[in-house]
Amino acid sequence: MRKIRTAIIGGAGYTGGELARLLVFHPDVDLVSIHSNSQKGKKIWEVHPDLLGDSELEFTDEVQTEGIDAVFLGLPHGETQRFLELHPFPEKTVIIDLSTDFRDESNGFVYGLPEVNSEKIKTAKRIANPGCFATAIQLGLAPSIAKGWARENIHVTGITGSTGAGKKLAETSHFSYRNNNISVYKLFTHQHLKEIKQTMVQLNPDFDQQILFVPYRGNFPRGIWITSYFPFDGELDEAVNVYQEFYQKSPFTFVSTQDIDLKQVVNTNKCVIYLQKEVGQLVIYSAIDNLLKGASGQAVQNFNLAFGLDEKTGLNLKSIAF
Ligand SMILES: NC(=O)c1ccc[n+]([C@@H]2O[C@H](COP(=O)([O-])OP(=O)(O)OC[C@H]3O[C@@H](n4cnc5c(N)ncnc54)[C@H](OP(=O)(O)O)[C@@H]3O)[C@@H](O)[C@H]2O)c1
Repeated sequence: MRKIRTAIIGGAGYTGGELARLLVFHPDVDLVSIHSNSQKGKKIWEVHPDLLGDSELEFTDEVQTEGIDAVFLGLPHGETQRFLELHPFPEKTVIIDLSTDFRDESNGFVYGLPEVNSEKIKTAKRIANPGCFATAIQLGLAPSIAKGWARENIHVTGITGSTGAGKKLAETSHFSYRNNNISVYKLFTHQHLKEIKQTMVQLNPDFDQQILFVPYRGNFPRGIWITSYFPFDGELDEAVNVYQEFYQKSPFTFVSTQDIDLKQVVNTNKCVIYLQKEVGQLVIYSAIDNLLKGASGQAVQNFNLAFGLDEKTGLNLKSIAF
């Protein structure tokens, strides 16, 4: 079979680099173009040094729209829409966007959360990859919401690694600030709440609870840890069964029956979930790698679905474990 010709736009950034790492080793992919305005002419390994010995592809600032089967866009919010207006791709080209620009399904993109939308993704040519916090929160809550269990506001706290903020240096991603530190941002107003609500209503049209989300900046480079809870009348065993059944066919989302930790998922495309019931609350922990299940890994998972490949192709990754 001919390999699938793919391109990455925004290839010098964190999600672009992670896409390159996955696509260079993907057995069905020919990575033919990697775009960067700032790194034009450099070899891929000069920008992403861990790829030394793996690919000699050069960065280009030219955008190839013809002869490409799939394009991944790892551009900052607001830039993707502008970029696609300037560089329209043929309708048959599969576009997978990692920014927030098209996550509202009214934009004509399919929301790329495979655990909920895999059938739609299989026939989609335009896919909006979910946000990183949004992925971890939605996977933690989806079975509960589908069952109508959350009848009051849902409390959610989340902590993210510094790569979640992108490669460009900001005061809050500077080593001196981030190391040995913790801080809250966008209290109750995080931009991912909109897409989370969209999925929750899709799963349960009666869903109208608020998700009170407290996001934290963590002092580690990658990973997201979410804790969600709400009052729950049922038994813990019942909840675990419902969750395990909900994710039975999902090859990357697992409901653990023992305590979980972040390093279980760092460097993998997995989401692991663990449930507890205490003082009448169902407490749900969900953990992902923000750059993989929260971004580039999930984008490749969506790509696999859209091209009729096994969902796990190129995504059998090893966790760092410790
Ligand atoms: N980081 C995460 O964990 C994560 C998770 C989920 C989703 N996302 C989303 O994924 C997108 C990319 O995030 P990131 O973390 O990879 O950001 P990043 O590290 O800042 O990289 C963005 C890249 O986009 C390129 N770029 C900027 N403006 C451009 C333009 N106008 N035209 C073409 N290229 C442009 C830049 O490269 P050049 O200047 O070299 O062209 C830069 O390398 C964002 O929308 C982000 O919200 C990120």
